[in-house]
Amino acid sequence: MWKIELLIYSLVIVGTSCSSVNNKKFPDSFLLGTATAAYQIEGAWNEDGKGENIWDRTCHSDPTRIFNNENADIACDSYHKYKEDVALLKDLGVSVYRFSISWSRILPTGYLNEINQLGINYYKNLISELKANNIEPLVTIFHWDLPQPLQDIGGFPNDRIIRRYVEYARVVFDNFGDDVKYWITFNEPKQTCRGGYAALGDAPFINSSGIGEYLCTHNLLKAHAETYHMYNKEFRDKQNGHIGITIDTVWAEPDSKDKADVEAADRLIQFTYGWYAHPVTHGDYPEVMKQFVGERSAKQGFSESRLPKFSKAEIHGMKNTVDFLGLNYYTSVMAKHKNDEEKTAIDWDQDSEVDTYFKPEWPSTASSWLKIVPWGMRKILNWVNKNYEGLPIIVTENGVSENGTTLEDDVRIDYYRDHLSGVRDALDDGVNVIGYTAWSMMDNFEWTRGYSEKFGLYSVDFNDPERKRTPKKSVSFFKQFLATRCLVEESKCVAA
Ligand SMILES: *[C@@H]1O[C@H](CO)[C@@H](O)[C@H](O)[C@H]1NC(C)=O
Ligand SMILES: *[C@@H]1O[C@H](CO)[C@@H](O)[C@H](O)[C@H]1NC(C)=O
Repeated sequence: MWKIELLIYSLVIVGTSCSSVNNKKFPDSFLLGTATAAYQIEGAWNEDGKGENIWDRTCHSDPTRIFNNENADIACDSYHKYKEDVALLKDLGVSVYRFSISWSRILPTGYLNEINQLGINYYKNLISELKANNIEPLVTIFHWDLPQPLQDIGGFPNDRIIRRYVEYARVVFDNFGDDVKYWITFNEPKQTCRGGYAALGDAPFINSSGIGEYLCTHNLLKAHAETYHMYNKEFRDKQNGHIGITIDTVWAEPDSKDKADVEAADRLIQFTYGWYAHPVTHGDYPEVMKQFVGERSAKQGFSESRLPKFSKAEIHGMKNTVDFLGLNYYTSVMAKHKNDEEKTAIDWDQDSEVDTYFKPEWPSTASSWLKIVPWGMRKILNWVNKNYEGLPIIVTENGVSENGTTLEDDVRIDYYRDHLSGVRDALDDGVNVIGYTAWSMMDNFEWTRGYSEKFGLYSVDFNDPERKRTPKKSVSFFKQFLATRCLVEESKCVAA
């Protein structure tokens, strides 16, 4: 009897995170660092000529959209404290720092009629401070903060956005491109499009569900592809950078071995990651999306699919327009095929015909959408690697929230260790993953959740006019990891 108990006990031990942490070092060339975004940290919302963006507008005119009516007018005040932030990054030991540029700081109206030199200077100073400290900038050109004047004419669903975005990107490459080797055109376009134009989760909080998110995506993808070609034509020879797009997705685990559930799980990732990644690699939306949205649209009486079509020329222009793929992974879902005979709902979320749920044993966090499922990391990396034929992948976001009651954030230490172990396992699997930037360097303005969900390695005191930064316990873990490039104690590390 005791033998059986011992066996069960051993299985339990093997099944927990500790015993399964990968003990191989990350290769020296692997980019390791942290990530932030302009609107979430900069503050200085109307200083030095910055224009109004859609999040400024929401926070000021429609504050009940935000937890506690909070806003990012000051946020972490990084606009004034960037030198201190770079010093913290240096102390942490990062080799790369991911941040975003605020469109309205550079082009206050969104158009070229005003170019704001003071805004340009801010990013020039930040980039030279990073370079002086041997930190590689990984720059997101657009992280959700659209200039309000471009929203006033419809935002992303208006195809004029394509020209506006390309000319903004040209100003960015022109000013910063000599010092930046890694560019991300868009961060989490699904949030911009579905959150912004269908789900009422993000600015501009428009609900044209089933139509707006697809139209927004169509224009955003064209803006991405045209920017890629513009970079090739005008900048690549001199600047030699790499251009990617950052796409967020869950891992979807089939609810059963039934073919229908296995297909449903894959379909959900095609509708999420593939919606953006398939066009920029293969030129068009995933076949399964065209089929499902097309069939539903027909049944619903639309004259054409709610998923817009690319022309032959557009498909040609869209294909192979990334040098790497960005992946933001936080959590997983269980996925089950949904028998939807009626097909009445007009909504991206319903178009995939998949039911999802969280397993009750997955640990909760301060964010209702985020359950801790570390093994999803290795699986999603393998999925991306397989579907996009070994393109380089950078994990551009991964992290966990707490509510700020303690600096002893053991939950974050375990989260990073277990997810990074999944990244290291994926390297062993042959996945071409080349970097990882943890979300986030410090607590910041978490969009509609205000300051209630804290993702930082450093805590920020938002009641202190100085916005004092204090390291959480996870900082010492992360420091040790970056110094050794290894997730276990040094004596147990083995070479890359
Ligand atoms: C958006 O509008 C549709 C159609 O009126 C509705 O069914 C859906 O619940 C709305 N979505 C949100 C997030 O309110
Ligand atoms: C914050 O999180 C801790 C740990 O999960 C929990 O015990 C506590 O009740 C939470 N506090 C608030 C104010 O939500």
